[in-house]
Amino acid sequence: MTKVNNEMKLNIAVLPGDGIGPEVTAQAVKALKAIAMEFNHVFTFETGLVGAAAIDKTGNPLPEETISICENADAILFGAIGNTKYDNDPNTKIRPEQGLLGLRKVLDLYTNIRPVIAYEDLLNKSSLKIKQIKNTNILIYRELTSGIYFGEKKLSDDGNTASDICQYTRSEIERIAHLAFKAAQSRRHKLTLVDKANVLASSRLWRKVVQELASQYPDVKLNYLYIDNAAMELIINPRQFDVILTENMFGDILSEEASVIVGSIGLLASASIGDKHAMFEPIHGAYTKAANKGIANPIASILSAAMLLSHFGLDEEADLIRHGVDKSLKLHITTPDLNTKYDNITTTKVGDFIEDFINNPEETNLNFTNIHLGQSTII
Ligand code: IPM
Ligand code: MN
Repeated sequence: MTKVNNEMKLNIAVLPGDGIGPEVTAQAVKALKAIAMEFNHVFTFETGLVGAAAIDKTGNPLPEETISICENADAILFGAIGNTKYDNDPNTKIRPEQGLLGLRKVLDLYTNIRPVIAYEDLLNKSSLKIKQIKNTNILIYRELTSGIYFGEKKLSDDGNTASDICQYTRSEIERIAHLAFKAAQSRRHKLTLVDKANVLASSRLWRKVVQELASQYPDVKLNYLYIDNAAMELIINPRQFDVILTENMFGDILSEEASVIVGSIGLLASASIGDKHAMFEPIHGAYTKAANKGIANPIASILSAAMLLSHFGLDEEADLIRHGVDKSLKLHITTPDLNTKYDNITTTKVGDFIEDFINNPEETNLNFTNIHLGQSTII
């Protein structure tokens, strides 16, 4: 990354991955290219193989070449991972997910940040009551490189006993907890630690460590919830949350649950941050059966691109993307998961609309809308 005057040079690794990954990522790249043009930045893109796509070509879900592309990049844009053909075979030794988990580990991307925002224009898309979810704005801080995902895994010789260890060290908890406290300081000053400290030793360590750190952040109100209770509170009263801090697997489950508030899992973006590297990825999976049909919602990927820009302090640029997204939602330029008004809006059309908005936020949208809806061709 270099910055001369206000021009930013960023080398971005693009890992489209599997299923709908390539199509949604293409829309995010389009948005980033439009931003580069508009703001005189130089963004270069280098594509790498990961997941089932990488297994098909190289036998390895995380080829060395991909690791080196990522290590040499300023940031990584990740698509999706997984293929149903691996899902029902518990005997497979090589799985696409190892590509994503391996990357998180190798690049030490220990903090995963998942914003959960109830968009005004989508309140009626949620299966929850509007009055319940209105104005929800949560940041989930999910630990990403430890816990049960990465603890020792065992299968007995007779194949009848298996275990996964959930282990955490003080320093693994401290480094993400500091970031979560700081995030709360810049928001509504509330941090909720979600754990299962009534049962799990690892959770009791989380409570102890986070409690100790709290004295360094006296302006943040810290509270605790057990994961089972948090799962319920998140649905009943999501507005009570500001920043949620939690370990790897609880964060995986809670963030997917939280997508119900937003209306579609196709909207949730995330940033996975380490001390040296940063990766930006939708929280949704590969959705294999929707691949290449033009129905995948690219907004999570496009908003992940906005998080990438914010990460480098390009807030005006990130906001422009977010405004484009808001506008697309307002005008119903959305894929079928959200659209009850028009049935001809494809993944690419949503991307085109947001690209067009970035190029010309004031002028073209009404005509553009009409053109894309086939209602008018007069500019
Ligand atoms: C996620 C995904 C991954 C996870 C899978 C694909 C390994 O569900 O990013 O939330 O469990 O972390
Ligand atoms: Mn998940």
